[in-house]
Amino acid sequence: MNIYGVLGYPAKHSLSPAMHNAAFKKCGIEAAYKIFEVPPVKLPVFFSSLAVKNISGFNVTVPYKETVVRYLHKISEEASFIGAVNTVKIVRGKLHGFNTDGEGFVRHVKEGCGMSFTGKTVAVLGAGGAGKGVCFHVCREKPKELRIYNRDRAKSLTLYNRLLQCFDGIRVKVIANADDLCLRDADMLINATSVGMRPSDGMIVPRPALHRGLFVYDLVYNRNTALLEAAGAAGCRISNGLGMLLYQGMLAFEVWTRKKAPKECMEESLRRALRRR
Ligand code: ATR
Repeated sequence: MNIYGVLGYPAKHSLSPAMHNAAFKKCGIEAAYKIFEVPPVKLPVFFSSLAVKNISGFNVTVPYKETVVRYLHKISEEASFIGAVNTVKIVRGKLHGFNTDGEGFVRHVKEGCGMSFTGKTVAVLGAGGAGKGVCFHVCREKPKELRIYNRDRAKSLTLYNRLLQCFDGIRVKVIANADDLCLRDADMLINATSVGMRPSDGMIVPRPALHRGLFVYDLVYNRNTALLEAAGAAGCRISNGLGMLLYQGMLAFEVWTRKKAPKECMEESLRRALRRR
């Protein structure tokens, strides 16, 4: 039996086992998806025992998305751009790294929410791991303009320069202050910061900036953040990040099995696991 799992510390809270085990069952694949909760001191042992444990692939979560890169033999273009990996596939003992978060986000917005980025003005909050993945994939969709705000401006400038190197003719602006995002003429606002993860977190953009024509997406998946509540009240279309979690999982499943992921079954298991929490 092939073994898959999620590597993290902590990792017990992960919703991925429910989603992937349901998918393996649905597709008749003899595999099990486990939780690999590994403290930092045991990480080298985890990597040296992959073959013995018959592990064919795994997801990577906090705090290892960047750390794992040094253990890999090959990494995909997007994972290399982001500098972080969330999916590893083991092929004849070689470890291949991928990052399905950004593509998961874009696929969810396009297929799940029925929206397009092409020709749109898109504002992204955050230039950390999640923000980089989102910006990379949004740029592939040829937006009219991408505006990036990050508290640490040096990070958004680095991201800006790398996007210009990767995407010919792309229009990107770095915004120094969230109040200057100029959402009036924007079509989409994406929160890729960790602000909102804690229930006590406040808003990152001023409420009056939210307007009816704006689609607001928050990558936080387990509830609607203060930003989404305010956006909903302002008449915006909104989405939390549960769909992104689903799509990044579907993409990981497809990387591992080369089979089409069973969307409905994975979504149902994910929602059920979230309710049980
Ligand atoms: P992830 O992999 O989830 O993106 P990360 O790489 O640690 O995690 O990035 C966290 C993001 O949330 C960053 O954009 C961070 O901004 P800084 O680069 O300025 O630290 C952002 N963030 C975290 N706390 C924040 C806060 N209180 N206000 C604004 N941005 C915040």
